[in-house]
Amino acid sequence: MPTGHSRDYRDYRHLRAAGTSLVLDCTGDRLPRVVHWGDDLGDLGDLRDPGGAGLADLAAASATAPMSNTLDLPVPLSLMPEHSAGWLGTPGLTGHRDGADFSTSFTVRSIRTVRTPDLPEAHQLTVDAVDEHARLGLVLEMELTASGLVRQRATVTNHDPGERPYVVDGLLLALPVPAHATELLDLTGRHLRERSPQRHEFTLGTHLRENRRGRTGTDATLLHLAGEGGFGFRTGEVWGLHVAWSGNHRTLAERTPAGVSLLGGGETLLAGEVPLAAGQSYTGPWVIGSYGRGLDELAGRFHQYLRARTRHPHRPRPVTLNTWEAVYFQQDIGTLTALADTAAEVGAERFVLDDGWFKGRRDDRAGLGDWYVDESVWPGGLGPLVDHVRSLGLEFGLWVEPEMVSPDSDLARAHPEWILATGGRLPPESRQQQVLDLGHAGAYDHLLERLDALVTEYAIDYLKWDHNRDLVEAGHSPTGAAGVHAQTAAAYRLLDELRARHPGLEIESCSSGGGRVDLGILERTDRVWTSDCIDALERQRIQRWTGLLLPPELLGAHVGSPVAHTTGRAHTLDFRAGTALFGHFGIEWDLTAADPGERARLAEWVAAYKELRPLLHTGTVVHGDHPDPALRVHGVVAADRSHALYALVQTATSVPSPAGVVRLPGLDADARYQVRPRAPGDRAEGPHRSDPPWWGRAEGVELTGRALAAAGVRAPTLFPERLVLVEARGL
Ligand code: DGJ
Repeated sequence: MPTGHSRDYRDYRHLRAAGTSLVLDCTGDRLPRVVHWGDDLGDLGDLRDPGGAGLADLAAASATAPMSNTLDLPVPLSLMPEHSAGWLGTPGLTGHRDGADFSTSFTVRSIRTVRTPDLPEAHQLTVDAVDEHARLGLVLEMELTASGLVRQRATVTNHDPGERPYVVDGLLLALPVPAHATELLDLTGRHLRERSPQRHEFTLGTHLRENRRGRTGTDATLLHLAGEGGFGFRTGEVWGLHVAWSGNHRTLAERTPAGVSLLGGGETLLAGEVPLAAGQSYTGPWVIGSYGRGLDELAGRFHQYLRARTRHPHRPRPVTLNTWEAVYFQQDIGTLTALADTAAEVGAERFVLDDGWFKGRRDDRAGLGDWYVDESVWPGGLGPLVDHVRSLGLEFGLWVEPEMVSPDSDLARAHPEWILATGGRLPPESRQQQVLDLGHAGAYDHLLERLDALVTEYAIDYLKWDHNRDLVEAGHSPTGAAGVHAQTAAAYRLLDELRARHPGLEIESCSSGGGRVDLGILERTDRVWTSDCIDALERQRIQRWTGLLLPPELLGAHVGSPVAHTTGRAHTLDFRAGTALFGHFGIEWDLTAADPGERARLAEWVAAYKELRPLLHTGTVVHGDHPDPALRVHGVVAADRSHALYALVQTATSVPSPAGVVRLPGLDADARYQVRPRAPGDRAEGPHRSDPPWWGRAEGVELTGRALAAAGVRAPTLFPERLVLVEARGL
């Protein structure tokens, strides 16, 4: 037995789930350190097996010795890195008490673990720590979920009995990644182009993605990823971090000259935003890490975790007709009942009345805040439309944008003090609107009363909850103190309270499209509006990358008009519908202007969606890593791998012709499958298209999952911006 090391096995924890290991070094009384996060290490010996190879040896094997001109003790990276331990990278907790107590040194008092029968090891851990000198308490909660996600959050409490508050400036939690994670991937974008990937070398220093928009952001990365060079959807180890928060937040990837690499994340706090009086606490958002061999495995852990929630929408996701791009602000009962009729004709199951129904809202310059039906447009209220929609067998949904206020509204005129602002000036307008300060009890109560009354009066099934601007100079009156943290927390409370009053109500998180996509908002909503851009080509990319975090049933995906309103591109109906098929399917198109042939074809796609949604909304999402960037392969494989649907997508022209052989991943290697084109995606219009010989065979091809994943099938040669569907059924 080696000497010179602590061999107290009680001081290490090994959490294992779904092919992931998390080994924590809890020796001594400082905050726990991660020894390993990644691939399952197997049984290394623990409390029940003290004679095993040993967690202590794992830690000892990688321990460092002091180097010249560094501290005399090794500097470990704890879950919440501390300056006092010698950590000179981005610190975990920052804050102060009148300038003092700027650096903390927490001592662990207890570590409690909770065991669950479905996992081999303890999988929840709560660390209680104190800093007697700074008079602060800290609770670190950590969990390895059944799907292998590492969730952690921290609560800091001011224990100073005196008058001086402790001002929290920031709280960042970290997870180390190994040195062979040499490449970073994050997402950026803007309105109408969310989730554009960018890759870089993981160089020394800090790569920071900080969001100060007061909402998650149309440019939010969703995940900050570090992986082996060239990692793809199917290959390469990769680690990622997400911050489950809908306000200001940051994620970072940091690499130090001492050879430490980490991913970190937390809320970004504005100056003075969280002053803790005696006894008060601040709890940061959940910071969630995922590991995978390839992005599909990493994303699958999020999908499984979300699907295991009791409030996950398990009911079949209804085909939704949204009125926005069909009529914009041109609302009247005749137009909208006719639209509802066509929606019912093609098989829609939910009708959502978008912006423009409330008082003074004839365009986007006025009315936000006045959540009363506009009698000039709807003389009989919304009742006649709602009744008509219901008589067709459709659910009824309504658009709202509760946190916003138009300066030209009765509400703003009555309560100018309810607008978030500071410095005695109003923030610059965005879409001619300002933000209502939910930190005012009166504003909050007004919204709750209005929303509750509307949902009750019309028995509303679904709210499309929008949020169409960034927060700028969001000060709470009368002091003008920074108010984004309080605003985010109050929006969550409002959603929670409304849902408690209306348990059957579903809510969509929309924010200029995909500006509020995160797991904080998704604790209280049922899908996201993935983007205002429903151009199917753009959507192929946007859905692919938003899908790193969310499973298909949470991604609102609509069939738009033949010519996309936001790009001017024209696409076939099959390309539009075959793209929407892989989300929560809907329609956003003036169907009263569509010809009978288009409506009939759309009805075929709606029927296919209804038949396939049990597979698409419970299965495993997979992507082929095809070398031709113009040929994309993605699909969903049933949990029992008996059935799968793939889309072969030609996004642009390819250099190779005919089209390449594509691999169909994710199937049971030893099972045999019949693989055939799947209607209505079995043909793609275009005179120069050519099908490979197997495409026309009624019986398709019969191959094993191994052969399909390794050798694959020849794709049809398609015009650009076309797709076909392929179905695999176990024999
Ligand atoms: C932005 C949303 O993303 C759109 O879908 C639509 O609801 C408009 N707002 C309405 O103002």
